[in-house]
Amino acid sequence: MKLNVAYFLLLLTATVTFVNSCTPSDREALLSFKSGLTEPYIGLFNSWTGNDCCSNWAGVTCDPTDGRVNDIILRGESEALEKTGRSGYMTGSLSPSLCKLDRLTTLIVADWKTISGEIPACITTLPHLRILDLIGNQLTGSLPSDIGKLTKLTVLNVADNRLTGPVPPSIVDLSSLMHLDLSNNKLSGELPKDIGKLKMMSRALVNHNELTGTIPESISEIYRLADLDLSSNQLTGSIPSKLGSMPVLSTLNLDSNKLSGEIPVSILSNGGLNIVNLSRNGLDGYLPDVFTAGSYFSVLDLSFNKLKGAIPKSLTAARYIGHLDLSNNHLCGSIPLGFPFDHLEASSFDNNDCLCGSPLMRIC
Ligand SMILES: *[C@@H]1O[C@H](CO)[C@@H](O)[C@H](O)[C@H]1NC(C)=O
Repeated sequence: MKLNVAYFLLLLTATVTFVNSCTPSDREALLSFKSGLTEPYIGLFNSWTGNDCCSNWAGVTCDPTDGRVNDIILRGESEALEKTGRSGYMTGSLSPSLCKLDRLTTLIVADWKTISGEIPACITTLPHLRILDLIGNQLTGSLPSDIGKLTKLTVLNVADNRLTGPVPPSIVDLSSLMHLDLSNNKLSGELPKDIGKLKMMSRALVNHNELTGTIPESISEIYRLADLDLSSNQLTGSIPSKLGSMPVLSTLNLDSNKLSGEIPVSILSNGGLNIVNLSRNGLDGYLPDVFTAGSYFSVLDLSFNKLKGAIPKSLTAARYIGHLDLSNNHLCGSIPLGFPFDHLEASSFDNNDCLCGSPLMRIC
């Protein structure tokens, strides 16, 4: 009896092992992907040999029940790599053969520095894709125009590449998207007006591109958005005041654009907004006197604008202000006494029209 059980288990193990091994078409697709790339230092692809792509192919994971490839995770920067003292470096391009892996849920080919060429347009035909992370390469061309077809996508990260063209209007159809990072590319054109449809999004980083047009007001409808960075673009128009009433927004970086108009009161009176950088725009008008004991700013950088009038007395009521920069504006009058002004340096107030009092040398 015991022997029978053992025999049965042996048979079962054999069966499972058989099911485990990779399907020949997935293996073919992986090998074409590999042949498009050269990784000279680590020997990452040395493990990509033999029939079973599901066991011991570095960075490849399969569904154990059917031997289809689920994940490709190849990171050029990791702690493990750093310990070996070697750095990830790969040349070549991303083969469209990837699109034959139609069970792919995760595609991470990140920080290889010199992978070039375009993002294969057929990537939008991968219906199960949840994570697409191609950060830190030299990809060119544009984002696929029908990227909105990837309705399961939760992470889209193509930061630190050389992508051109627009942010595709279809991006607003990525109804599962939580984390969007398009920063440090050369994307141009306007942000889609209806970007507020991305209801799941909690981080949106589109800084350091060449975007024009205005900040879509619909962004304020993204109730989960905690981190918005549109800095270093060519955005014009005023700051939508509704951005200041977003429930969980804590970081708002709009610096280095061409924004004009006044700073909305709501942005300075929202107790949850802790990091605000509006530096290097054309913002004018007076600084609203709306700070309270609920004000808590680790960073409030309003430097290099056209703000006029006095520094609001209510700033001394703030619970905390770490870094305050009001330099390079047209402010005038005496710098209030007490916290936070007693721990700030003169550089926070330099180059205004007629500010006076400590920490400036000019006596009132
Ligand atoms: C705010 O943005 C400006 C311009 O982009 C930058 O130079 C500055 O360092 C930022 N301020 C802080 C505190 O990060």
